[in-house]
Amino acid sequence: MKIITDVVTDLLIEAVDKSFNGEIDHKDISVQFTKDIKLGHFQTNIALVSSKKLRRNPREIATKILENIETQSIIEKTDIAGPGFINFFLSSNMINSYLRDFNPNSWDYDLNVEKGVTVIDYSSPNIAKRMHIAHLRSTIIGESIKRMYKFMKREVIADNHLGDWGTQFGKLIVGYNNWLDKSAYQTDPLAELERIYVKFEQESAQNEALLPEARKELKKLQDGDEINTKLWKEFVDTSITEYNKLYKRLNVSFDTYWGESYYVDSMPSVIKELEEKRIAKESQGALIVEFDESEHLHPCLIRKSDGATLYATSDLACIKKKRESYDLNKLIYVTDDRQADHFKQFFRVSEMLGWDVNNIHVTFGLMKFADSHFSSRKGNVIRLETLLDEAESRALKIVEEKNPELSTEEKKEIARVVGIGAVKYSDLSQNRSSTIVFDWDKNLSFEGNTSPYLQYVYARIQSILRKTEFDTNQKVDNLIFESEIENKIILQLTKFHSVIDKAAESCKPNVIADYVYELAQLFNTFYNAINIIKSEESEKQSRLLLIHKVALTIKSGLDLLGIEVLDRM
Ligand code: ARG
Repeated sequence: MKIITDVVTDLLIEAVDKSFNGEIDHKDISVQFTKDIKLGHFQTNIALVSSKKLRRNPREIATKILENIETQSIIEKTDIAGPGFINFFLSSNMINSYLRDFNPNSWDYDLNVEKGVTVIDYSSPNIAKRMHIAHLRSTIIGESIKRMYKFMKREVIADNHLGDWGTQFGKLIVGYNNWLDKSAYQTDPLAELERIYVKFEQESAQNEALLPEARKELKKLQDGDEINTKLWKEFVDTSITEYNKLYKRLNVSFDTYWGESYYVDSMPSVIKELEEKRIAKESQGALIVEFDESEHLHPCLIRKSDGATLYATSDLACIKKKRESYDLNKLIYVTDDRQADHFKQFFRVSEMLGWDVNNIHVTFGLMKFADSHFSSRKGNVIRLETLLDEAESRALKIVEEKNPELSTEEKKEIARVVGIGAVKYSDLSQNRSSTIVFDWDKNLSFEGNTSPYLQYVYARIQSILRKTEFDTNQKVDNLIFESEIENKIILQLTKFHSVIDKAAESCKPNVIADYVYELAQLFNTFYNAINIIKSEESEKQSRLLLIHKVALTIKSGLDLLGIEVLDRM
């Protein structure tokens, strides 16, 4: 199946060529969905756009184009509106056959549009610490972008760029050797590593010997000392194991966990290339890259005067390594907007090096809590685990009120899906650059633009399909859709794949959320206006098929946001 706008665009191109013999450029030709279905399904402004070039009145151009549009099988009727817009009404045959074949999950995307590998770098916590809520947004936004790319059958690698290298490891090793509480480490290893790290900071304020000792241990680690390497490896593995527990709860997964340590060996060659190409220069013993004044960017620090490399050096080495590892097309990095300058700097350096890769920084704003009981006090950060537990337990309370008759197992499962869904949706449904104010009551509500509402619409459709024993595999031949609302729903379905295109292009999950919400609302209008179960048999099958496709699409859209649905709730 083709995206329906493309079907109409192709027809239009053919007619334009016939009418104007190549005088109108194909790239100017496009069709849009109309705002109001009464005006038609699609509209084009091509007559207005080409009026100047052709030196003709737009309505005249429109009339000429329409002479060459075949109305019947696909288009039933056309119309010229206002100064020269052309409106198209799809034929009911076209609409029906489209709906019959429509499956949100099977789609022939044009695989030539974007060749090569896209790596998405997201979540990327600094290890040996528990994750906290500041890690949430990168984790779920990145996961959603990955899902969109996968959906479009593009080659994509989900990479967790762990912060697993740096001075903190010297301190941790000293802490580990001196103060580790073995049994605490057994029960909650990351909490214990956090504790000894904090202890190091406290102790070193009084004990001057500690910092040099940490430096010594770090040097040993950097030089490949066996014992320290083993310890460091243990920190990395433990961290990944612990993080994976949370990722599993969040339904998030990665292909690679290439942390900063992975790029250490590539740094010298990056520095060499920067020097050879005369991109970097010495400045007071340090190595820097300066930018043109017009770029309003601070110089990018590559190597400090003591020889230490920096965050930017590591990120450049990362690009180099990824270009060597894959047929790399694009690198997408998901972090909060406070790192914007860092990304701008090394993106620019990568460009100066002539590395052909599309670097894209996907930024987002901070997350806050409307509920003051649940906010960070005195630097006490909210751990991600606490947030997820809270979400599930609040959802459980609601489920207990709503469905007391369910078994404990069932209630818990619903609470899990609803709670985690609410956390994700409240984030992904907003433009990612906005600051998010997290409001439990609002997000867990079954009304309005929330995930429980969408999940509930899905479950309600499943319940109708169960009651009517609708066979989703049957071929419903004579489809009848007469009401405006049914036609609106079908039209909304036909938009699905272009919406995903748009969301992936802009890395904006909220585009999908908006779409799914609109679809759910249309369904509810339909549901409130028409008694589906009691409809005439001939219409009933069409209606059941329609809502079945709506449910499939809601499920598929939510899945792109990493949100699950339930057949009953
Ligand atoms: N570890 C970093 C942090 O916690 C994020 C890394 C993002 N990715 C990158 N390639 N710089 O802020």
